[in-house]
Amino acid sequence: MPLQKPEPVIAVVGSLNIDLIAYTARVPGAGETVIGDRFVMGFGGKGANQAVMAARLGAHVSMVGALGDDVYAGMTVDNLIAQRVDAAHVARVAGSSGVAPIWVEPDGTNRIIVVPGANDEVDPAVAAGAVRALRPAVVIGQLEIPQAVTAAAFRAAREVGAATILNPAPAAALDPDLLAGADWLIPNETEFAILAGVEAFDPVDDSALAAFARRIRARFVVTLGSRGAAVVTTSGSVERVPAIPVKPVDTTGAGDAFVGAFAFGLAAGLDELGAVRLGIACASDSVTRLGTQSSFASRDGAAAIVARVLGGA
Ligand code: RIB
Repeated sequence: MPLQKPEPVIAVVGSLNIDLIAYTARVPGAGETVIGDRFVMGFGGKGANQAVMAARLGAHVSMVGALGDDVYAGMTVDNLIAQRVDAAHVARVAGSSGVAPIWVEPDGTNRIIVVPGANDEVDPAVAAGAVRALRPAVVIGQLEIPQAVTAAAFRAAREVGAATILNPAPAAALDPDLLAGADWLIPNETEFAILAGVEAFDPVDDSALAAFARRIRARFVVTLGSRGAAVVTTSGSVERVPAIPVKPVDTTGAGDAFVGAFAFGLAAGLDELGAVRLGIACASDSVTRLGTQSSFASRDGAAAIVARVLGGA
C-alpha cells in the first residue's frame, strides 16, 4: 500500500551542533590520556539529525533553531541546504554554535558532551511564529534548546492543527507546560527511567511502561536499543517491535534516526505501529555506518527502507 502523503510538511524546533567524534579502543579514565584510532567532524545536533532523517525519507522539512557567528555556522547552513532541509528559520546570533565532542568505542557505544552555544539563544516568539507560518503536519522537539522555546512552538503547533512529538533527550526534568503540549513522547530507556522515576527499569517488563502511560496525556513510545521499541496503545497494552539484528559500529544518532523516521511515518499516514517499524528500520540501518547524519540512509536507501516496511518484509 503506498503512503497517503509521501511528502508531508514537518518542522523541527531544536538543536544544530558540530559533532567532533573520536573513535577509540577505550575511553580514558580521570587524569588519563589515551591514543584514539580515528577522528571525524560531522553535522549533528538532535534536532538537525531528526530533520535530515525525515528529509531523506521524502518530507518537506524546515529547521527552526539558531547558529552562532563562528566558522561552523555557514557550513551547517550549507549542509542543511544540501540535505534539502529549509534553513530559512535558523537564526544567527553572536557567539559560538553548538558543538558536541563524542567518544565512540569499538562496540559502537558512545559518550557525548553537548555544549549548546547558540542553541540556548533560540527565541520562543520567533520559534512559535515559524511554526504558524509553516503550518506543518508534525512538529518535533528535543531538550537541547530551552524547554520554554519548545513549549511555545508546541502551543503554536496546536493552533495550526499539527501533531507534536517530544524526544526528551538528553534526559532532564520536564517543564509541565512542555509535557502538556506533547502529543507523543519518545524517550530512550535511560530517559524513560528518569522521567518515570523508576530506579531499576527492566526493559522487558511492560508494567512500568503501561503505568507511566496512564500518568501522562501524551502517547508514548520508548526506544530500547538492540531490543527495538515499545509503544503503549490507546487501550493501554504494550506492543513491541524488535530491532533488526545488525553489527553496530557507531550508535551515535540512532535515536534521532528513529524519531525523524517515526515523525515522517505519522505525517505520511502510517498508523503508529507502521511508524514505529519505520523508525526501527532506519535506526537499525544507521548503526551500521560511522558518524551521525553521515550514518543515515541515503534518499535511495531510505526509499528502499520505506518499500520494505510497507511491504511487511
Ligand atoms: O543524538 C546524537 C546527537 O546528540 C549528536 O549529533 C550530538 O550533536 C548530540 O546532539
